[in-house]
Amino acid sequence: MLLTREEMTFDFGGARLDPAGDRKLLAWMMNQFLYGEVTGIQCGHWLYGAPDLEAARFFSRQAVEEFQHVDNFLRILELLGERPAEAHGLVRFLTSGMMPSTFEEHVCLEMALGEGFVLMALYAIIDTVAHEEIRAILTRAVKQEERHVDFGERRTAAAVRQRPALRRRLLGLSLVSTWGVRRLGAFMRKRLPAEHPVLSALPGFLRFTVDCAEKRLLRMGVLKRPFAELGALEKTANVAEAYGTSLLSAPLRLLPRKRLTDTYLRDAAVRQPAAPEDKEHVRLVR
Ligand SMILES: [Fe+2]
Ligand SMILES: [Fe+2]
Repeated sequence: MLLTREEMTFDFGGARLDPAGDRKLLAWMMNQFLYGEVTGIQCGHWLYGAPDLEAARFFSRQAVEEFQHVDNFLRILELLGERPAEAHGLVRFLTSGMMPSTFEEHVCLEMALGEGFVLMALYAIIDTVAHEEIRAILTRAVKQEERHVDFGERRTAAAVRQRPALRRRLLGLSLVSTWGVRRLGAFMRKRLPAEHPVLSALPGFLRFTVDCAEKRLLRMGVLKRPFAELGALEKTANVAEAYGTSLLSAPLRLLPRKRLTDTYLRDAAVRQPAAPEDKEHVRLVR
């Protein structure tokens, strides 16, 4: 990856998430991740539109991995003694409410940046949760997420090198996606107990994730100068260009019928996770 684990590690100052005392909060977080993993069905769309064999192989393997992660989050909810539940509307919107129109937008927005944000949230939980088995499960899952981010970074950098004209559009869309992360942060600040040692660090953590996204955009060659050096006018022009020329727009791509992301909580495999002997595939990949 273009950023090291160290560069993506936020200092929570030794604060811890307690699996008993913070059970509800942890379950809320796990349910957001669970939804995100079910959006792995979208790998099918990108596999069908893959521009080359490397990408096709990658997306088919990624789909397998994302569905193993579904099992991981179900297992963590079980360890917490909590049930699978709805994800927040903003999380649903950010992960499945819209779909990029091109491969280049997908690898930049959803893989390098989107999975990059998820990866940092997972690192944050690994670094703070006081529960060995939960940490072990997440530590295995992040190895795969790191590969997804790496693929997104490499293919974005290559696309921008080959077609520099793509840069402005990708940048405009990236500005909107970092805005979405800031909105999610504002929601969490309002909704979650601010006196909690980990949660009180959240505003700083979110600023840090946006800084990392900026570094990633710089290193991929999407951004030529830091955000601070972009004037308001230039930012607006990039966003306008992105939306004027891209079909990344929710109304056009709203899912036409019920998909697994709408029905997974009613799915028998979610309501009653499989017995260990049925999970051979999970062990094989681990
Ligand atoms: Fe995943
Ligand atoms: Fe992933």
